[in-house]
Amino acid sequence: MSEKWDAIIIGGGAAGLFCAGVAGQLGKKVLVLDHATVLGEKIRISGGGRCNFTNIHSSPANFLSLNPHFVKSALARYPAKEFIKLIQSYRIAYHEKHQGQLFCDDSAKQIIELLFAECAKGQVQIRYPVTVDSIAQDGEGWVVHTNSGPERTQSLVMATGGLPVPAIGATAYSLDIAKQFGLKVIEPTPALVPLSFTSNEFVKLTELAGLSLPVSIHSGFKGARYGNHQFNEDLLLTHKGLSGPAVLQASSYWSAGEDIQIDWLGRAEGDSKSHCEAIFNAEENRLKTTEIILSLMLPQRLAKAFASQKQLLGRKWAEVGKKDRQALQDLILNWSVKPAGTLGWKKAEVMLGGVDTKELDSQTMMSRQHAGLFFIGECVDVTGHLGGHNFQWAWASAYACAQAI
Ligand code: FDA
Repeated sequence: MSEKWDAIIIGGGAAGLFCAGVAGQLGKKVLVLDHATVLGEKIRISGGGRCNFTNIHSSPANFLSLNPHFVKSALARYPAKEFIKLIQSYRIAYHEKHQGQLFCDDSAKQIIELLFAECAKGQVQIRYPVTVDSIAQDGEGWVVHTNSGPERTQSLVMATGGLPVPAIGATAYSLDIAKQFGLKVIEPTPALVPLSFTSNEFVKLTELAGLSLPVSIHSGFKGARYGNHQFNEDLLLTHKGLSGPAVLQASSYWSAGEDIQIDWLGRAEGDSKSHCEAIFNAEENRLKTTEIILSLMLPQRLAKAFASQKQLLGRKWAEVGKKDRQALQDLILNWSVKPAGTLGWKKAEVMLGGVDTKELDSQTMMSRQHAGLFFIGECVDVTGHLGGHNFQWAWASAYACAQAI
């Protein structure tokens, strides 16, 4: 058997490569193993090819986990500003897009290059494609059996990410290893994913595919697995259902069988209602048609669809009774609809669930049951909101682990 490593990291994605670079530069002898023929594919396709690599405002409130406190220590020790410093040290040009989201000006490939450069500084060995056949405990350490032979290590870091986008090599390997060693895994489900619909109400709206507008969306309920949340973002109507940042965010809090609520005016709390009532009650609007009244607050195509849905198309506003006005107001301010499902792993950006945080030390990401076994990145039951928080978790969890191996 060959030399013994200080750490073997399985998975050379965002978390794995970052952890390797930091640990290598701390003097550890590190080997990264990945089954892919090209590394960093998720980084390459992220942020529309520009990688939303962090979020200036990233805080524990931006994460879903059965234990919301779990992320606190790692995020405090490696906050967004530390990764920004690193980006600046590589002179990677970046810009803020929306609500603190930072993107590369040029290309996500710059982040991959940065990670490889950091690994080179730490003399990290990176081998790919390699198949990991099995992992076993070996005295105080671990043995990793690969298609090119066994490798022994003191610490083993599982960093194989989540299940989204199987076409680029996503697997549940970290979850399988967690289960093999008796760690509890929270059932994984797709998150930050478009929602599909079958309800008749929605079918009419599919005619509006391509329409995008700012809304306020609410998903989840008090006492739900991951709680509930309201987002003010853009919604996109598509042929398959609802998408856009608002819906991706809401999907993480949605559980099958539950409704989501949409305020199509997307204004600040309380403001939507008074805006709607002011338009409905204005004397000068009495002789306008219903769709014209609605178009004073909604895009024309949506206004027409809503008027048609309530069989009020072409009807003068003065002739619309109290009951119908109330029904329209409910439709505009509190459209409650039950998604049929999500578009699944192919279209999801991240995974909800993963290795139960109760099994891990939040300071180090090490298993409480097995010394030297670590889990970092997306395979842990920590899921960020859209907007750079998932990469921030990859960097922060990797950094915490690197200090401990
Ligand atoms: P990651 O997926 O990066 O790496 C896992 C590695 O493990 C891969 O190299 C894989 O090949 C390897 N692996 C898997 N199974 C293996 C096995 N059995 N043996 C060996 N190796 C194995 N986030 C964000 O913050 N900003 C953004 O802009 C985006 N954009 C975005 C777009 C799209 C389309 C997707 C799908 C996702 C995003 N994300 C994102 C999410 C982000 O990409 C994700 O959270 C991180 O890449 C997670 O980092 P990890 O290192 O945990 O997994």
